[in-house]
Amino acid sequence: MQSVKGTKDILPHDSVAWRHLEQVIREVMHRYCYGEIRTPIFEDTTVFSRGIGEATDIVGKEMYTFTDKGGSSLTLRPEMTAPVIRSFIEHGLGDQRVLNKLYYIGPMFRQERPQAGRFRQFHQFGFESIGQTSPECDAEIIAMASDIYTRLGISFTLKINSVGDPTCRPQYREVLQSFLDSVHDRLSTESQKRALSNPMRVLDSKDERDKEATKNAPVILDYLSDTCQKHFQRTCALLDEIGIGYVVDPRLVRGLDYYTMTAFEFISADIGSQDALGGGGRYDGLVTQLGGKETPAVGFAAGIERMLMVMEKNGYTFPEDSPEVYLIGMDPASRDWVFQTAIKMRTGGLSVEIDYADRSVKAQMREANRLGCPFVVIVGETELQSGTAQVKNMREGTQESVEFSSLIEYMTALSHH
Ligand code: HAM
Repeated sequence: MQSVKGTKDILPHDSVAWRHLEQVIREVMHRYCYGEIRTPIFEDTTVFSRGIGEATDIVGKEMYTFTDKGGSSLTLRPEMTAPVIRSFIEHGLGDQRVLNKLYYIGPMFRQERPQAGRFRQFHQFGFESIGQTSPECDAEIIAMASDIYTRLGISFTLKINSVGDPTCRPQYREVLQSFLDSVHDRLSTESQKRALSNPMRVLDSKDERDKEATKNAPVILDYLSDTCQKHFQRTCALLDEIGIGYVVDPRLVRGLDYYTMTAFEFISADIGSQDALGGGGRYDGLVTQLGGKETPAVGFAAGIERMLMVMEKNGYTFPEDSPEVYLIGMDPASRDWVFQTAIKMRTGGLSVEIDYADRSVKAQMREANRLGCPFVVIVGETELQSGTAQVKNMREGTQESVEFSSLIEYMTALSHH
């Protein structure tokens, strides 16, 4: 049997990298004062169909939707913004604070064609700032993403755009649609369809025919309302002030329908065609869309697998996960001492490995080396009689005798100094 196509096992060796990355994320979230939210892996399908939009690829083609035995239509979450807002409304979080700052880390599910950097179960971390229209919120979200990438040695290009709001976008949509009508025959079949259902996505097409045909298409930035324009300028000015570089890309449209005003994406030059490290934007209409009171919000999410791909390519050094001590017994009586002492040491807070396969002392030494243990404790007949153990410092190549009675204390001091 094999894991399902587009899914992956994360084995202990890989988990070290995952945990390190998660720890960095949590540290940064703490600094920016975001609280963690954990929602269920599945939701009623309407959370996503209403939240993300029927005309999007995610809802139209990629969701893992099933009917459970009670006849409810459920969907494995393809993203977290809609569930977070569902939860925000359900628990009345908006009545408790003027601004709710929430973050998450976890698996998402989309039935896309698997390829390098694209999976069917993948992992995101993300954060949502719910309650205010202030451009400071937009800039803070971008700053947090940038902070995390930088801390992990991941370089990026930040693309930013404003996609307008319900006061100006309909007008732009019309202008764009009539432009797309005029070049209809030169568009790809996919984009011909999209021109009707979701015209702004045509500008985002990777197809060369579409790129060529829409070279002179009108761009949203020329059609923004005063409010949207001011908001966009102020957001960019704040990024300038805090020293975050960006490229204004008037053709940037994201694959989810809930965005208003700010939309942005972090792109990597290091990982091939699936080059979006993360993206987000403002979504001032989503809370009402899902049945709550009008509440502005802005957020971001990143793909963890893609970050790890970049970090591995860069030769990022992840912290090691070695045991602190390896205990070696040279004969059966000593092995018994080793087993008991290992349990005591672990209870006392040390990470301790021993041999379970009756291997020779030499083989055990090799194992300790392979695991990167800084200290090895060796006990044989002589040591049992004298009540002292030989403690080898593997890094410095030194050795000393330590009495059994003070061994745990001694090893703890050595390991935690
Ligand atoms: P998204 O752009 O759909 O946005 O996904 C964010 C990131 O998740 C992508 O940039 C990519 O790194 C990663 N990702 C998406 N699909 C896959 C896949 N099949 N395999 C591997 N990685 C993938 C959202 O999900 C929005 N909820 C972001 C947001 C939060 N907007 C506002 N708040």
